[in-house]
Amino acid sequence: MIATPPIRAVPSPPVIELVDLHKVYRVGVELVHALQGITLTIQENEYVAIMGPSGSGKSTLMNILGCLDVPTGGDYRLRGQDVSRLSQSKLALIRGRQIGFVFQSFELLPRTTALKNVELPMTYSGVRHRRRRALEALKRVNLLDRAHHHPNQLSGGQKQRVALARALAQQPDIILADEPTGNLDSATGEEIMAVFDSLHAEGQTLIIVTHEDHIARRCRRIIRLIDGRIVLDTARGDVWSPTTPTLTAAPAGAPVPSSTEGTP
Ligand SMILES: Nc1ncnc2c1ncn2[C@@H]1O[C@H](COP(=O)(O)OP(=O)(O)O)[C@@H](O)[C@H]1O
Ligand SMILES: [Mg+2]
Repeated sequence: MIATPPIRAVPSPPVIELVDLHKVYRVGVELVHALQGITLTIQENEYVAIMGPSGSGKSTLMNILGCLDVPTGGDYRLRGQDVSRLSQSKLALIRGRQIGFVFQSFELLPRTTALKNVELPMTYSGVRHRRRRALEALKRVNLLDRAHHHPNQLSGGQKQRVALARALAQQPDIILADEPTGNLDSATGEEIMAVFDSLHAEGQTLIIVTHEDHIARRCRRIIRLIDGRIVLDTARGDVWSPTTPTLTAAPAGAPVPSSTEGTP
């Protein structure tokens, strides 16, 4: 009889590892330096907001993270696999299996039911049990009762929930959302963020581009871009948790300084 060796837990690589990432677009004779050396690690179950002014490189970064585009310099490892220099067809395969997208404009097929909209990408990536997975995903966003509705029979918030279900059904490693609440009123935006919150609580890794402070505040980490560079990277728990030790620890017995964080 062959003894089975004990299984050792191998630490899993970060979901995302970017090292000195650059993206240069060529427009005629002009070069646009959209990303200028982004180094960034994102672990499983992080809940990240990416902020920054228009033109700072947010969408460029999301497109690369989502394997829609490749960098012109630097490295991108997705779960340990170098995806910086793959062919379009290999990237498409990775997108289908590992990335869930949510867009500002929902991007649903208009003459197709919610259920079919959720099912369709799984057809391309050859996933099995598509109907069951689509129904489960719609249930998770609390939209099972609208499965047979067409997009024009749904509210904005419901459309975005269908889009979220479509991303979830693929059971992706990461969900990338570019301004997911940008086309919604604030109450509906909150409703969508509540779904993101619960996905985070269930272990999903989430990256959300937003220019709205109240949306970013729901995330656990905020990364701010300016001119294609990271100018700020704060983990909220680090900043706000009263139990987090600070670098300049007060001597034992010293009064705890009152926090000034969060004051308007
Ligand atoms: N496909 C493209 N071709 C050329 N320039 C682009 C392209 N996409 C974006 N850019 C430029 O790259 C910079 C970053 O754009 P983008 O990533 O869309 O910023 P953001 O999403 O933060 O508004 C901008 O200067 C923009 O004009
Ligand atoms: Mg953008």
